[in-house]
Amino acid sequence: MLRRIGERGAEDFAPARSRELSDRICLAGLGVEIPEASISNEELVDAFNRWVGAENMGRAERGEEPLPGSSADFIVHASGIRRRHVYEREGILDPARMAPVIPARGDGELSVMAEFGLKAARKALAHAKASPRDIDLVICSAAHHQRPYPAIAIEIQQALGAEGAAFDMGLGCSSALAGLHMAANLVRAGAHRRILVVTPELITAHLNFRDRQTHFIFGDAAVAFVVEAMDQGSHYPGRFEVVDTRLWTQFSSNIRTNFGFMSRLAQEDPYNLAMEGQLIKQIGNKVFKEVTVAGHQFIVEFLAEYGHTPHTMRRFWLHQANARMNAMILKLAFGEEVGQDRAPTVLERLGNTAAAGAVIALAENHEDMEPGQFGLLCAFGAGYSIGGALLRMM
Ligand code: COA
Repeated sequence: MLRRIGERGAEDFAPARSRELSDRICLAGLGVEIPEASISNEELVDAFNRWVGAENMGRAERGEEPLPGSSADFIVHASGIRRRHVYEREGILDPARMAPVIPARGDGELSVMAEFGLKAARKALAHAKASPRDIDLVICSAAHHQRPYPAIAIEIQQALGAEGAAFDMGLGCSSALAGLHMAANLVRAGAHRRILVVTPELITAHLNFRDRQTHFIFGDAAVAFVVEAMDQGSHYPGRFEVVDTRLWTQFSSNIRTNFGFMSRLAQEDPYNLAMEGQLIKQIGNKVFKEVTVAGHQFIVEFLAEYGHTPHTMRRFWLHQANARMNAMILKLAFGEEVGQDRAPTVLERLGNTAAAGAVIALAENHEDMEPGQFGLLCAFGAGYSIGGALLRMM
């Protein structure tokens, strides 16, 4: 399809269409891919405690303090999470490994992250009744990318047969919202007509299952959505208008990964790729307090800009990290407790699926909404970062 640069005529560089500003943007299709395999708190804690038992034998011999065990009761009480789905179960529950077994693929094969994202992308396109050729930009926005380049988004673009361009981006657990912010504004500005945003979260591949503070938090899931300009006079029943989007960020190391290309240089042998200490870490209770306050403020201020209050929202699809945290943010916003109907959670069965969680809550909980009703999609996480989108059912 591509010709060499020298073979291109001037007409090849002319814009394919005139730039039209679009004042109305639509979330035209949603896709969710949840892997089949799952792990309960009890199974995870059992593997962790067996590893701790073996570790502590060595520690006792060396006269060191024993490591504390993990507890399934603590996990449910502290986070609300009961189980999580994982891309690959093998290896995670083996105390000798405690990491999923995902064999390397050759450069000529579809990469794992692109394959996972593609499943959600195809569902989003089907939901939007769009074909890959209707897409003129693919954005892959996720908390972790399998590699820096070639962009995972380009691999997805090629596998789908979509045209235009593609690039990767990320903003921790706010990545899907950052992708939506970018896509909605590019469509609004007329730079693109229909954008596919894909968020494949393969977070168990990056999790430290030997860290008591974080081993229970995350699960894998991929989401995708189509953002497009609304044609004047057309109807979009059952779809959402994206009224506006917003991002907020403030630097914090309370959720952090140091896993990157510089990691190897800090080692005596730069060709030993052991990544001890580089995986996700989190000071959970600090994150809890600081992000609850910032999240509440973000929500109230964002809604106020549009003359809304939390009470005028039919539904909140919040980040799925911690049930107590969401309840607290909403109690601050509403002045009273609100239930599942107002703010559904999916984290009990999926864990924290990073940037995918809020979009899964949206995909699973919108079909009963009446035309004209509003909802707020809002995710928060590493950075710190918060992303919000005010949506109106059409
Ligand atoms: N099993 C048993 N006990 C555990 C444990 C485990 N797996 N992990 C920690 N504990 C213990 C701690 O040692 C501590 O014990 P102590 O009181 O004797 O010192 C106690 O439980 C409380 O620990 P704390 O870390 O304060 O728990 P928490 O109530 O804050 O819950 C999180 C931990 C991670 C569930 C919670 O802080 C959280 O979800 N934070 C927000 C995460 C978030 O939103 N991230 C952004 C998006 S990714």
